Amino acid sequence: MTLMDGKKLSDLKKSQIKSQVEELMKDKNARRPKLSVVLVGNDPSSELYVRNKKKACEMVGIIGETINLSATCSAKELTKVLTDLNNDSEVDGILLQLPLPSHLNEEDFIQMISPDKDVDGFHYINQGKLLQNLPTIYSCTPLGVVELLDYYKIDVVGKNVCMVGTSNIVGKPLGLMLLNRHASVDFCNRETKNLKEHTIKADILISATGRKWLITEDMVKNGAVVIDIGTIKDPITHKLYGDVDFENVKKKASFITPVPGGVGPMTIACLLENTLKLYLNHKN
Ligand code: GUN
Repeated sequence: MTLMDGKKLSDLKKSQIKSQVEELMKDKNARRPKLSVVLVGNDPSSELYVRNKKKACEMVGIIGETINLSATCSAKELTKVLTDLNNDSEVDGILLQLPLPSHLNEEDFIQMISPDKDVDGFHYINQGKLLQNLPTIYSCTPLGVVELLDYYKIDVVGKNVCMVGTSNIVGKPLGLMLLNRHASVDFCNRETKNLKEHTIKADILISATGRKWLITEDMVKNGAVVIDIGTIKDPITHKLYGDVDFENVKKKASFITPVPGGVGPMTIACLLENTLKLYLNHKN
């Protein structure tokens, strides 16, 4: 069994991005790449994620700006902030941290971000391009998984992929990315009857549900590649768990991602990669 070390690959990717930014900054007239993160309210998890994103930007020489808005911010205020960022020629990527407070309709604001600054790849235009296998910005977590598979030289062509969890942010785009790479993809959701009948056939089993230890040893084919995108925090111990019962499933897997240290760190590295990609698009 090979442990897929997302921390190691993420560090490697970050050092490559840092070198690329340093190279670009040798041109004295060049402006720095910039990511603006909009955080509405003060949910502690979101605050932590946003701090980590900013820190990661700074580590590689990307400007990481955080715009904090109060939990009671109006739709009009948020619209103004996003419109100003769309119009700011120094801003390459805009990330609206989710979830938003319930009085703000997430979809309305996600779609307000200009597709060419949509660092999350959540805009209909970018997701539509993904559907048609055209070059686009891919959501960070799905991109991180694909890059992990590539790094460990796991060929997906003709493989049975079981994608458990079909969110617009993770499961659907990841399944489509693998379909575009000629895998056979079986999408499963919470209504799927007898999930095991699906998972047991998978050469590559991916779970992104946020349900602790949903994937048990008996559901996994011998030699399968197992990718765990769940991150569930125990409210008392604060220990992180995944969707996969790692200790038992690892006995059957050929490759497996740990939680933490698997897909999670890749998401941040891919956010930096996307910001740099948008910067280069804007520059050219
Ligand atoms: N909240 C949790 N994950 C994400 C993400 O990937 N992007 C955004 N914008 N918000 C999130």
